[in-house]
Amino acid sequence: MGLDKYFQHKPGGETAFTIEAPNLKFGLGVLSELGEESQSLGITRAALFVDPHVEKIDHFSKAILSLKNAGIDFEIYNGIEIEPTDRSFKEASKFAQNGKFDGYISIGGGSTMDTAKAANLYATYPAELFAYVNAPVGDARQIPGSLMPHIACPTTFGTASETTGIAIFDILDQDMKTGIAHRALRPTLGLIDPEGLTTLPAAVIASNGFDVFSHAIESYTAKPFTHRPAPEKPSQRPLLQGANPYSDMACLEAIKIVGENIEKAVNQNGSLEELEALSLAGMLAGIGFGNAGCHLPHAMSYAVAGLVKNYKPKDWPSDHPMVPHGISVIVNSPAAFRFTSEACPDRHLKAAEALGVDVRNLPTNKAGKVLGDKVIDLMKKTGLPNGLKGVGYNEADIDSLAENTLPTKRLLDISPRAVDSKILKTIFRDAMSYW
Ligand SMILES: NC(=O)c1ccc[n+]([C@@H]2O[C@H](COP(=O)([O-])OP(=O)(O)OC[C@H]3O[C@@H](n4cnc5c(N)ncnc54)[C@H](O)[C@@H]3O)[C@@H](O)[C@H]2O)c1
Ligand SMILES: [Fe+2]
Repeated sequence: MGLDKYFQHKPGGETAFTIEAPNLKFGLGVLSELGEESQSLGITRAALFVDPHVEKIDHFSKAILSLKNAGIDFEIYNGIEIEPTDRSFKEASKFAQNGKFDGYISIGGGSTMDTAKAANLYATYPAELFAYVNAPVGDARQIPGSLMPHIACPTTFGTASETTGIAIFDILDQDMKTGIAHRALRPTLGLIDPEGLTTLPAAVIASNGFDVFSHAIESYTAKPFTHRPAPEKPSQRPLLQGANPYSDMACLEAIKIVGENIEKAVNQNGSLEELEALSLAGMLAGIGFGNAGCHLPHAMSYAVAGLVKNYKPKDWPSDHPMVPHGISVIVNSPAAFRFTSEACPDRHLKAAEALGVDVRNLPTNKAGKVLGDKVIDLMKKTGLPNGLKGVGYNEADIDSLAENTLPTKRLLDISPRAVDSKILKTIFRDAMSYW
């Protein structure tokens, strides 16, 4: 038998994968333990990051109470931009540099947690913003050492930013998203309290659910770690290693949980039962993609979000034009899976099976279509836009979408099937509309 045959060894190929487990506490009510957890990490004066909307919800008051009860001094920073930008990362870093903080706390979604990661980094090791940003957009400078303790408390469940060493932002004058990826950015502790999700609007639940879903499927179908060339030095192993046996376990379970809960959570506006399950799925998928890495749908999503025209998501808390992260990903996913399935059809079929599709007797050349159809079915049932046209793009945008995807090399490299500009254009064309 041996390992899954996907991990077949190759001459000169990588033979090892690393498990860097994030430190997490999951459960109803755990946010009330924030004060005590801060104490045990030696935090006496915290920079507390929250967006202006989350600052007003009851869940946030619970965090404040817990910090006060534990005697932790803190200063609130609410200058978060939803879908952060180079501008908002720089402003948050300035706040952090001036505040003499010995710890960071973020309460909110990916936008808030990522902003706190960046502020912690640039306050601890000051540098130009692009110094640590992924190549080729930035210099990808190594982070010299560990950062200040950071407790990340998600109030959404899609990004799993509390589990990853990744911070994503929009470069305003280039209409594209990029990020910083380094293990030092991973929060010291993630406090995942599903009770905080009950105020999420249905639109945010849908966007988050599909983000989780694509994290899990992309990591499960990513290029296997054994297909990377063996590194010359252990320190050259990338943070995102490709599919491996550890990420597989987390991802398959996450796919199954999302499939079972997303429709009900979106259409009945989330009872705590479904939200608790989706929160667990988000955490598992985060463990998976934080270790393996996402590929095409996410790489393409950065261009889709960055080039936004006038699209305003329905029932979204803010009203400026934007394509929310989960939506910018899932509009690409069916077309991307149709393309990648040729490289690893069995894995695409297994993902469809985890979603409840009966895959017995299905030929492997139908794997991409079957998985894509199941994703499209769930998109329709949860009111998602119909592909790229649904978020305001048309055929005339294909060249710029492809061009803005190419710099996201760290994700394209993990695709199980290699892409170039011409192939990306074909996939974007296929993603224009699905029904
Ligand atoms: N770091 C990572 O590993 C990683 C992974 C994927 C995505 N991201 C990034 O994360 C960002 C998206 O984050 P997100 O989807 O978690 O959402 P978000 O932080 O952008 O928030 C979305 C909206 O929901 C509101 N909101 C958040 N929690 C709420 C609650 N409990 N009740 C009511 N409203 C609430 C916010 O105020 C905001 O208006 C993007 O910038 C994306 O690129 C990061
Ligand atoms: Fe994502």
